[in-house]
Amino acid sequence: MISENISLKPFNTFGIDVKTKRFARFANVKGLSDILSQRNEDPLLILGGGSNILMTRDFNGLVLKNEIKGYEVISENEENVIVKVGAGEVWHEFVLKNIENNFGGTENLSLIPGSVGASPMQNIGAYGVEIKDVFVELEAFHIKTGEIHNFSHKECNFGYRESVFKREKKGEYIIVSVTYRLTKKHKVNVVYGAILEELQKNGVAQPTIKSVSNAIIAIRSSKLPDPKEIGNAGSFFKNPVVNVSILNEIKKTHPTVPNYPAPNGKVKLAAGWLIEKAGWKGKRIKNYGVHKNQALVLVNYGNSTGAEILDLSSRIIADVENEFGVCLEREVNII
Ligand code: FAD
Ligand code: EPU
Repeated sequence: MISENISLKPFNTFGIDVKTKRFARFANVKGLSDILSQRNEDPLLILGGGSNILMTRDFNGLVLKNEIKGYEVISENEENVIVKVGAGEVWHEFVLKNIENNFGGTENLSLIPGSVGASPMQNIGAYGVEIKDVFVELEAFHIKTGEIHNFSHKECNFGYRESVFKREKKGEYIIVSVTYRLTKKHKVNVVYGAILEELQKNGVAQPTIKSVSNAIIAIRSSKLPDPKEIGNAGSFFKNPVVNVSILNEIKKTHPTVPNYPAPNGKVKLAAGWLIEKAGWKGKRIKNYGVHKNQALVLVNYGNSTGAEILDLSSRIIADVENEFGVCLEREVNII
């Protein structure tokens, strides 16, 4: 059923109150095809959890909410299990189900908001793991032809918060299922210092996938605002990857600038650090601002508009560029 003139406030974690001309939910591919046959030429917006979008105006088109469920073990051996998951499953519930089943690989990605279907869009990542590390393939509905196309790992062309669906194939597909390879013999990944610290605090000497997940949930809860309390979409910007010459320039005035090795001899800088040093951390303008614990997170304290938050992000980009000669790129999808 297609509804008209619907507020999207409950459907985006920034809590921005814009309206869409038309809105529908789909729970399977047949339902999706049926809705699209009544689409006209309206622009389309596919929504999972709405946790990586900023709505800057009313949407004069059709919003489709993905509610395709399912969790199916396709095959397994002594080492691994292959699991196919409906794109409308909630990501964190999928992670918890894996832990309950003692399937490893997704525990470091605990508590990331949003849907399974959006996870390959930007190759979600946290605490040393990205979904590309467990991804096998996905099925996607080709909007133009109505065909289902399969995408292998290689075809997704994953990068840091990137995939083919954010670039070359943007707007062409609706992801309907994702297949992952999980472990039965686990190798927990605790390379991020904060995880080890948290495990020690909890008296864990032999970490399991469950204790790693619990540690990550505790760390994330202490740092990141809960969208149920304060509107946000996680990191608003990507961490910039720059030439070493830029790092060396910054080091002249800030010798301890955080930096991490990146491919091709480049370095990744911490956008949160750059924004903090540019003076924006914790700043509040009317009902929106920069979070007090994490400068990479822009927040909506009340009834702000997407345009106000977008404008704030432009001011931050300009200040960081002036101060450090580094151009920040937005991670959040602006609509
Ligand atoms: P949505 O916001 O609904 O959609 C995002 C984009 O994908 C849109 O362009 C949408 O049209 C498109 N899309 C969604 N579903 C489909 C589909 N099935 N087919 C085709 N296109 C689709 N991200 C990280 O990587 N790491 C983190 O640690 C992290 N932490 C976060 C913490 C908080 C508090 C918040 C609010 C966000 C965080 N994020 C993080 C960002 C966000 O959770 C991820 O980007 C997540 O994958 C978005 O999922 P979603 O279903 O909400 O996507
Ligand atoms: N920092 C500051 N000030 C701040 C924030 C951070 O100086 O206000 C410094 C920290 O002290 C640290 C460095 O920046 O030295 C990195 O900070 P943190 O470990 O908090 O991670 P991040 O780079 O800010 C990234 C991801 C997160 C992911 C975490 C954990 C991006 C854009 N963000 O954040 O992903 O959860 O690492 O792996 O890569 C998201 O994509 O939405 C997201 C939340």
